[in-house]
Amino acid sequence: MGGTNPYIKAGEIVLPKTKYKITFEPEDPAMGEPVTVEVDPEKIPYGETGQPGSILSIALANDVEIEHTCGGVCACSTCHVIVKEGLETCNEATDDEEDQLEEAPGLTPQSRLCCQTVPDGTKNVRVIVPAWNKNFVKETPHD
Ligand code: FES
Repeated sequence: MGGTNPYIKAGEIVLPKTKYKITFEPEDPAMGEPVTVEVDPEKIPYGETGQPGSILSIALANDVEIEHTCGGVCACSTCHVIVKEGLETCNEATDDEEDQLEEAPGLTPQSRLCCQTVPDGTKNVRVIVPAWNKNFVKETPHD
């Protein structure tokens, strides 16, 4: 099970040194087939959206569309994914991420904002992209 890593301070990011794979799996099979991409540390940053080496930046660079309304700056919750495998290899969520994450529907203990989540490459990672993600352009209204 994932969760907190006692050896890494919240927000501390360890970039991968070796290649590893991320599998993006739609929660709803109607959204498409799972996609597995290889992450090459030499290609980090994969783009300008999200933390360098973040799951979101790697997804977007590989044509895996995950919503990112705020542009990957930890100011929305639309990039919510569920890290089913490899969560223990990722940087721990900051308080800011936790606060934004609370707005995400379908929250689980393995939920993360993928623009803020950077695996260290010591293990392959599998993420579930929530079914509402496609075309989900606004945060869930709340009072
Ligand atoms: S894209 Fe807005 S928090 Fe990740």
